[in-house]
Amino acid sequence: MATGLMKTIGAGELRSDHVGSVVTLAGWIARRRDHGGVIFVDIRDSSGIVQVVLNPEDAPASEETLHGLRLEYCVQIEGSVRPRPEGTVNPDLPSGAIEVVASTITVLSPADALPFQLDDRTDVDESLRLQYRYLDMRRSRMAENLKARSQAIRAMRRVMDDQGFLEVETPTLIASTPEGARDMLVPSRLREGNFYALPQSPQLFKQLLMIGGVERYYQVAKCYRDEDFRADRQIEFTQLDFEGSFWGQDDVLAVLEEVAARVVADLRDAPIELPIQRLTYADAMARFGSDKPDLRFDMELIDISAVFASTEFKAFAGVLGEGGSVQAINAGNLALARSGLDAQVARAQELGAKGLVWMVVEDDGGLRSPVAKFLSDSEKAALIDACDGQPGDTLLIIADRTKTVRNILGQLRLDHGQPEGHEELAFAFVTDFPVFDVDDDGNLSPAHHPFTAPADIDEMVTSPETAISRSYDLVLNGSELGSGSVRIHDPIIQAKVFEVMNISSEVAEERFGWFLEALRYGTPPHAGFAIGIDRFVSILRGEPNIREIIPFPKTQTGADPLTGSPSKVEEVQLQELGIQIRPEVLEAWALREAEQQD
Ligand code: AMO
Ligand code: AMP
Repeated sequence: MATGLMKTIGAGELRSDHVGSVVTLAGWIARRRDHGGVIFVDIRDSSGIVQVVLNPEDAPASEETLHGLRLEYCVQIEGSVRPRPEGTVNPDLPSGAIEVVASTITVLSPADALPFQLDDRTDVDESLRLQYRYLDMRRSRMAENLKARSQAIRAMRRVMDDQGFLEVETPTLIASTPEGARDMLVPSRLREGNFYALPQSPQLFKQLLMIGGVERYYQVAKCYRDEDFRADRQIEFTQLDFEGSFWGQDDVLAVLEEVAARVVADLRDAPIELPIQRLTYADAMARFGSDKPDLRFDMELIDISAVFASTEFKAFAGVLGEGGSVQAINAGNLALARSGLDAQVARAQELGAKGLVWMVVEDDGGLRSPVAKFLSDSEKAALIDACDGQPGDTLLIIADRTKTVRNILGQLRLDHGQPEGHEELAFAFVTDFPVFDVDDDGNLSPAHHPFTAPADIDEMVTSPETAISRSYDLVLNGSELGSGSVRIHDPIIQAKVFEVMNISSEVAEERFGWFLEALRYGTPPHAGFAIGIDRFVSILRGEPNIREIIPFPKTQTGADPLTGSPSKVEEVQLQELGIQIRPEVLEAWALREAEQQD
């Protein structure tokens, strides 16, 4: 570690090699044991921990100083390194073979009584951890996570540098652009009543950089989206954003393989398998019921519609008659009692299924199921065959619209197959996404964003619901790590996409006229991508929530318990911005305050 004027070496760097040397340490008191006269303290700094022996007879500090030392006091210690006496070596600690005998100790800063213990054994409520994040990050979990985040970003930058990318910053006070989420807005003082938006991503700026001749751009970019929180979502997060000119999909995927390999090499012991496997969106949906399949395990969806083509069983016959499908997963030997099997039905219903049929393959090759009596012997045999059913296997079957069946079985597949933890890494590229998502009312919205090139412009105009785009995702262990696409570089095609999306040419001109104009000045074909850094690092660290990877995150309700944001502002600030809080909001505030006083 970097030392400085106040220390000569990091506490965690001391080894047997240093025995005999005189060192100056500076750090925090992580543990303290009073052994009648002699005091042992563990000194922790950002490099690790070492044991220090404070003997009042050797250390010319006052008794008062020595006995006044408390946990998390910030101290400086001079002393000499010696081997630990036999039997006291700690093999779990890198510095565990030695200790430092202090000759002087100086208190640099005392510490108040702590709101929680900083040792790693104590389980601390997360809101308390966030309120005292600066203390929380002295604990090894956060300290390690911050290091991993830095290492990951360093590895990414190295790849970008090696490949000749130019790092360019783009503005964070911009005009609102359509990326799919709600914008975070910032009122303008100089232009009262007008707003900047914080970027949901640097999408249009990076495309302008391509038009500007940059050819290879990247940025570690802060992005802002006013969306609901989830384990893998915050309202501000960080992307590795990059774009290249004269590029197509394979150029982008090659860079991504390099990035993934370097980051994993720096954060994990085992290398990743290259090339990263590719599957199309259509394949991913059909086989795994998800556009971000977890490929650490198989348990693929099996379309068994053909088995029931002329079935007597009404629930299946009805669905097939309406053009739906019957599909199954073989969840393996679940060994569930009747109540457990019924819980599977409830779970499927909670996910939106009309029902679920479970069947357990019996030792004699028969099927145990509440609906077995409705099935013919040949249907049962064909079903077991299609599902490769072995004695003990539980088959979970759903009949519905194909889209619904896939979605629900895709989630049940995760319930039963997903391994615990993040030890194993399964990367995948999912390609050929549709241009548009279609909701139940037939409305179209861009599946990626409206600057994504359709594979075939005529197909997009004639059958937008099924048209394929030139976009792709990077998936890791069932999470979407990032997305990108080949972009539209032809202003006529860009205008057509807006048209198909029902954005009139007037509205398109008003909102994106500047961008459509830019496309008219010799735009190079270009393509790019953005990786969610928080998600990537959280998976590599085995953390269940990206908050653990973000130094100062927001809670589920968008608050920062440490600084108290978001917060009210002074009336004069609002006046300057030409903003007035609506009376009903003021009333709601007053009501809440009154409630809190009760
Ligand atoms: P997209 O919107 O898919 O693409 O975002 C890319 C990646 O950013 C991460 N991400 C998030 N991480 C944490 N919290 C969030 N709220 C959040 N939203 C997104 C995800 C996601 O895969 N401009 C395009 C990229 C491009 O086309 O080049 C874009 O932003 O990991
Ligand atoms: P019912 O005919 O509604 O009494 O359903 C008989 C069995 O079929 C029950 O076990 C239901 O859970 C199941 N079932 C009903 N509809 C579906 C469906 N769409 N997909 C799978 N199973 C279903």
